[in-house]
Amino acid sequence: MPRNTQQDAQDNFCGRLAFEHVSLSYDGNLDHAVLHDIDFIAEPGQTVGMIGVNGAGKSTLASLIPGFYKATGGRITIDYVNIDTLASEKLHQHVGMVLQQALLFSGTVLENIRYGNPAATLEEVEEAARLAEAHDFISKLPHGYGTVLGQRGVNLSGGQKQRISIAPTLLLKPGMIILDDCTSAVDLRTDYRIRSSLRQVMKRTTCLIIAQRIASIQHADLILVLDEGRITARGTHETLLATSQLYRDIALSQQGA
Ligand SMILES: Nc1ncnc2c1ncn2[C@@H]1O[C@H](COP(=O)(O)OP(=O)(O)O)[C@@H](O)[C@H]1O
Ligand SMILES: [Mg+2]
Repeated sequence: MPRNTQQDAQDNFCGRLAFEHVSLSYDGNLDHAVLHDIDFIAEPGQTVGMIGVNGAGKSTLASLIPGFYKATGGRITIDYVNIDTLASEKLHQHVGMVLQQALLFSGTVLENIRYGNPAATLEEVEEAARLAEAHDFISKLPHGYGTVLGQRGVNLSGGQKQRISIAPTLLLKPGMIILDDCTSAVDLRTDYRIRSSLRQVMKRTTCLIIAQRIASIQHADLILVLDEGRITARGTHETLLATSQLYRDIALSQQGA
């Protein structure tokens, strides 16, 4: 039975996400829309993958879910409740988002990861770092988890920063997680390991995974191909290989990569 009260959605989070004919224009004028008629459902615990060229509108779509921007047309619901009516702190408690631009502040590794949950124990922090394939290299830093990052601290590679920036969201254990291209600088093998461990621990977490690599999303329950702000094809990896020229082109261009 559909839930329809705000309280329900907040207290018993299931993680059903629905976009209903969503459009977005950054200036409010639909003549300049960057998203058109976006319509899909992620059932609780499902993984939805999204792929498309730069500028297709993937990050814009993702940014609507935690409410960074509001849809110009249509609506987005979580557990059947319009997200516009959900309190923003509840939304942030249940929806974790990892961005492509790793957001680390100058402070220790520990402080950066604990940001996701200030009450977390060191063991929990390490566990989250392990899942993000970051524990091993953190352990080898001059002061381990006490190493200071940022301007006055050590410089990490782009991939290492991305791995650390995934960990706080894992500590938060949100019911829904959005990964916006957050392993683009991570090598393929590590990316694969991160995804395998995420699949293990997040069986009940609804995931929206945006990626440039088909390998990162091919196991998704549903894959959306986004092109010029529209979903131009959808289905599983196998269906899309058979039905979408764009998907096939992307797959071909990545073969052997
Ligand atoms: N904050 C913004 N204000 C205005 N236009 C934006 C903003 N962010 C993105 N855009 C535009 O929206 C379109 C989609 O961008 P984006 O969602 O970042 O695509 P993707 O993540 O698929 O590369 C692009 O044309 C981009 O220039
Ligand atoms: Mg993007």
